[in-house]
Amino acid sequence: MKMSESLEEKFNDQITLEFEASLVYRQLAVEMEIRDLPGIANWLRTQADEEIVHANKWIDHLSDRNNHPRIGAVPAPKVDVESVLDTFEVALKHEERVSEAIRELYRAAIDDIDSKQLIQWFSNEQVEEEATVSEIVGRLKLIDNDGPGLLRLDSELGARATGA
Ligand code: FEO
Repeated sequence: MKMSESLEEKFNDQITLEFEASLVYRQLAVEMEIRDLPGIANWLRTQADEEIVHANKWIDHLSDRNNHPRIGAVPAPKVDVESVLDTFEVALKHEERVSEAIRELYRAAIDDIDSKQLIQWFSNEQVEEEATVSEIVGRLKLIDNDGPGLLRLDSELGARATGA
């Protein structure tokens, strides 16, 4: 069943936010690539691709319900990072913002039974993503800019990104 126009607008905001998340991750990947950390860059690039998959899930849901998905203006990612720790702190902040947006969408769509499962899927996904990024932040604090520690993390995250 078609959702109301006001709810459709909120879903469209979420689509735009997922594209914004993708650009943030993609820029963070670039920042790591130019610092010769290809494994971390690859991990972030994989995340950027995953955010596009997220955006497409919302788009498909609106299309399936005869609503009109619209991608809004996505701001250029303002990513000013000095270190790998900064990079993941930016990522974590963005994930927290996305999680809050999903919670708001959940509240707004409380009576829209047809979107329940999808929103719940995203809510679970956010818990996972925040946990993953937060764990990396914790490990980076332990590493404390130690070269060999960073190179180990680089190789580990690189392996995860490629599924090796
Ligand atoms: Fe689609 Fe990482 O939020």
